[in-house]
Amino acid sequence: MQTLRLGDVAPNFTAQSTEGEINFHQWLGDGWGVLFSHPADYTPVCTTELGTVAKYKAEFDKRNVKVVALSVDGLESHRGWVQDINETQNTTVNFPIIADEDRKVAQLYDMLHPNSDEKGTVRSVFVIGPDKKIKLTITYPASTGRNFDELLRVIDSLQLTAYHKVATPANWNNGEDCVVVPAVATEDIPALFPKGFKEIKPYLRTTPQPNWN
Ligand code: BEZ
Repeated sequence: MQTLRLGDVAPNFTAQSTEGEINFHQWLGDGWGVLFSHPADYTPVCTTELGTVAKYKAEFDKRNVKVVALSVDGLESHRGWVQDINETQNTTVNFPIIADEDRKVAQLYDMLHPNSDEKGTVRSVFVIGPDKKIKLTITYPASTGRNFDELLRVIDSLQLTAYHKVATPANWNNGEDCVVVPAVATEDIPALFPKGFKEIKPYLRTTPQPNWN
């Protein structure tokens, strides 16, 4: 087990999934990725989460993000449960679920928190950039389903920083003003941000969201 921090390279692994064997780095390719764990198959909160992610596939695709789920249950269990997810959540699971029965990946990503959950993984989320580095980690307890709108919001923010040199302020949502990153000198802003900017303080410069029409 290792503690993974933002900026670390996401450890590579090979694992069985509902869509065949995955070599994680190869599977990620040049795009972004989300690896998220859930405590166990055939549990109510997890069922709603995986159904929600399936419905959001187009949103992840739009952002060039591949999504893969993981639990420590086996492939046969995953396959049976997927039918329940499809039926009860009115969707079709359209992303792989890793069968991590030997807990190899869970240990690699520190997803087992025995003082919180004796058997399964906690609800970990890792967002990985095209450079294979970890951009975001979130850990929820088993009893709280994740907010996947928030995950998309953070991915939008991460991509704005990666591609447009802006950060996003508290409670920011798509389409709202962004903050010019401190590394950009104020004299360079007009060339970089043709939509204009406001200098509220020398360290607090805002600009309309660069990739928003
Ligand atoms: C669930 O996914 O519903 C769940 C799993 C473990 C504990 C509590 C809820």
